[in-house]
Amino acid sequence: MTLNIDNPALLCSQSLINGEWRHAADGRRLAVTNPASGELIAEVPDCTPQDAQAAVDAAQKAFAVFRHGVAKERAALLKRWHGLVMANQEDLARLMSLEQGKPLAESRTEVAYGASYIEWFAEEAKRADGDIIPQQSQNHRLLVIRQPVGVVAAITPWNFPMAMLARKIAPAIAAGCAVVCKPAEDTPLTALAMAKLLQQAGAPAGLINVLTTSRERAGPLADVWLADARVRKISFTGSTAVGKHLARESAGTLKRLSLELGGNAPFIVFDDADIDAAVAGLMVAKFRNAGQTCICPNRVYVQQAVYERFIGKLAEKVGSLTIGPAAGGRAEIGPLINARAVEKVEQHLKDALEQGARLVVGGQRHACPDAPNGHFFTPTVVADVTAAMRMSCEETFGPVVPVTSFATEAEVVEMANATPFGLAAYFYSRDIDRIWEVAEAIEAGMVAVNDGALSTEIAPFGGIKDSGYGREGSRYGLDEYMNIKYIRHGSLARRLPG
Ligand code: SIN
Repeated sequence: MTLNIDNPALLCSQSLINGEWRHAADGRRLAVTNPASGELIAEVPDCTPQDAQAAVDAAQKAFAVFRHGVAKERAALLKRWHGLVMANQEDLARLMSLEQGKPLAESRTEVAYGASYIEWFAEEAKRADGDIIPQQSQNHRLLVIRQPVGVVAAITPWNFPMAMLARKIAPAIAAGCAVVCKPAEDTPLTALAMAKLLQQAGAPAGLINVLTTSRERAGPLADVWLADARVRKISFTGSTAVGKHLARESAGTLKRLSLELGGNAPFIVFDDADIDAAVAGLMVAKFRNAGQTCICPNRVYVQQAVYERFIGKLAEKVGSLTIGPAAGGRAEIGPLINARAVEKVEQHLKDALEQGARLVVGGQRHACPDAPNGHFFTPTVVADVTAAMRMSCEETFGPVVPVTSFATEAEVVEMANATPFGLAAYFYSRDIDRIWEVAEAIEAGMVAVNDGALSTEIAPFGGIKDSGYGREGSRYGLDEYMNIKYIRHGSLARRLPG
């Protein structure tokens, strides 16, 4: 069974540079495969540093004009893009499931989620207000205006190929910037389809440039953007190692950076919690995208008195999840993105079991009858996990729940914070004093209390510590793409009497 799309124009096999659909400068191609079956879906350009240079030239040219437009026009462009995305929601979802593997229902949700950022920033574009500062003497006035930073390089991940792209490009355009974008090599098709729709919405040539490239060529391509002083900002979602590399290498041109990097989210269940609600919240938070989400709980801490009860209820739910390819239509857990991802999950599990962890449910690759070559892993619960195990210290990025018991509130806060990361955290409790104390003590950019969901376009998404900096979405998100300029108007004379 395959996933067909109604609008074949969305299946693009060239990169977009300066409003033209192009092959890579040297004609090299990159294969895009379906992680559920290993089948070839399409080939796209494997772009070169020369293409990266051409994209910046085009973006800079577009920026020189676009920056002078008014907010209302930028808002209208984004609204048209939003409308086209929603009109093609089903096709975008199918395309995403094909190349990324997530169940169709999740892809549909992601398209709506990504579109919500476009709509949000269409509205925010008109609210890029400045300020008037009360002057210290009558002969001058002080104003603050906000201006677009310039050309933005958006480097987007494979786990949310549509939403992460939308939440970078929409605020960039709302601010008046032009964009050069490199989607992840595993999921370039969704990015190209989004660019096609933005072009259809009326984006001028060069405003949006999307360059697909292989893992091997991604470094040399990004190096061009890092070295080019015309690229004034990088917005990146991905690993901490790459984020630190971008920060180091962009220092030469002092670019602005938004880095949404790795997480190692704690999920804490106190003994006063509603246990059923905590299990339900964990299922939502953990198994979204088969556990391949930066904000997925990666360490679950359960207070001693409710430890075994919680594990029993959790195992029941996890054991009943349906695994399969998106094309089947019923799957709740799709394949992992590639063979390396499955190997990592296996290594983490082996390490934990060798060090004394207890396998409760799952624990092996899943052989799917309708997709024998897919990268499936059975949803898994492991109990008695300790801080020394790899799955406690590194992001597993797969459908594995490691559970650890704790005694006191102070102990669990210390355990939760004992990581270089600080993206998201979750906890369940019904004690109001505890809720505020723990919410404030946890070192993370986002904390969910009695909830398994954090993501929304109206709230600031981002981390602290090794999880990066900068915020996406919300009323704070536009600032990342704007410079503040102070204008002082002096030598003013008073003429009116009084
Ligand atoms: C991510 O995993 O990087 C993003 C998840 C989200 O936006 O909810």
